[in-house]
Amino acid sequence: MDVLVVEGGEVLEGTVRTAGAKNAVLSLLTAAILTEEEVVVENVPALADVRTMLGILKELGGEVRELGEGRVSIRMAEIPEPVADWNLVRKMRASFEVLGPLLARCGRAQVSYPGGCVFGLRPVDIHLKGLRALGATITTDAGYVLAEAPPGGLVGAEIYLGTPFGSSVGATRNVMMAAVCAKGTTVLQNAACEPEIVDLAQCLIKMGARVLGAGSPTIVIEGVERLHGTTHSVIPDRIEAGTYLAAGAITGGRVRVENCRPDHLTSFLDALHHAGCAVERGTDWLETQPREAFGSGLERLRATDVTTQPYPGFPTDLQAQWVTLMSLAEGISVVTERIYTDRYMHLAELTRLGARVRRQGSIAILEGIERFSGASLMASDLRASVSLVLAGLVARGTTEIHRVYHIDRGYERVEARLSSLGANIRRTSAE
Ligand code: UD1
Repeated sequence: MDVLVVEGGEVLEGTVRTAGAKNAVLSLLTAAILTEEEVVVENVPALADVRTMLGILKELGGEVRELGEGRVSIRMAEIPEPVADWNLVRKMRASFEVLGPLLARCGRAQVSYPGGCVFGLRPVDIHLKGLRALGATITTDAGYVLAEAPPGGLVGAEIYLGTPFGSSVGATRNVMMAAVCAKGTTVLQNAACEPEIVDLAQCLIKMGARVLGAGSPTIVIEGVERLHGTTHSVIPDRIEAGTYLAAGAITGGRVRVENCRPDHLTSFLDALHHAGCAVERGTDWLETQPREAFGSGLERLRATDVTTQPYPGFPTDLQAQWVTLMSLAEGISVVTERIYTDRYMHLAELTRLGARVRRQGSIAILEGIERFSGASLMASDLRASVSLVLAGLVARGTTEIHRVYHIDRGYERVEARLSSLGANIRRTSAE
């Protein structure tokens, strides 16, 4: 298994380009299930999760062609068996989102329950509630969800999609894709407002769907008879962009992130501003400004509290990176995780680098220290892992991050991009 080895202490400087958004591309690929015509997705990032989703589409009978330069063609001319089995779904939770489009296209679907993950239970009850409201019969058998549309097909309905933790991105997508070909009107209330939802809606509209209001909590869908093929380019990854800005902020360097959407990162930029990291911006770029070095070290960031919330609140997918930044900030900061209350796998590892952290339920309290001291660490999930890489960039000595495959699920060539910014980072294999 691969290990990332980071020698801390380099001030990062340079430019990176954001790849296509992982959390957008996965559902755009599943949208291809809705038509027998060709769908071409552009700006597809080279990620393990994308390969997993393409594997699922092939298993379902799809013809998948990689056209080069991040373009992928999918043609689901026929779907012999609308079944996504456990071996595929267990690798990646987002694969559960084939359920809605399969049900819409085939009138039935059998998809393995996704199971939990290291940071909690992650239920799918709201996905199922939404599909039931459209008239589907849902049963569970041997770990699978069996969904069946009524004889006349799915029927539009008014559906409240809230969860105890706010709106659900996955449920909004699954139900939206099931509803595009349902009879009549569907109104989704408390729908997720994330930019990835808007991207999917725009692709569906190009395919002939009638979707209004995506990006707001109320989405109205007028069902159409059928969808056709299209070409769609994936939006830039706001979480990847935020992570490289965090790399600039933590090292005190000038890191320019190009091909990004600053308007998708408002809450994160606000937190950086409060923490004392200046960020210049243009229409499609952001750049952290160098912080003055004083004495033997860098001017420290200021402790800044954040609370994760659905978009446009502070993203849970940037919480771990923020914890790393605040572990070195001047003062005491409070981080509250409102989406995945157990998403704190990184705390124990950061403590091994010297971080002073206390946790009470969904709240982490961080007393900033001057410097981390490098150690061997275990990556646990995608975003927690990258927060350890950020820590390694400024730790004294060497930091080794094991189980790097978690990072490869969501960051395209992370060590190449960080090296290009001047980081001393390399990938090796551990026995
Ligand atoms: C997506 C993102 C993930 C991000 C998350 C929250 C993808 C592929 N993944 O995950 O990176 O961290 O949004 O922004 O896009 N919930 C229920 N019942 C449900 C569904 C969700 O209670 O049926 C709860 C979840 O446990 C969680 C909250 O709702 O507490 C939000 O989850 P959701 O938005 O559904 O996350 P995902 O779509 O799985």
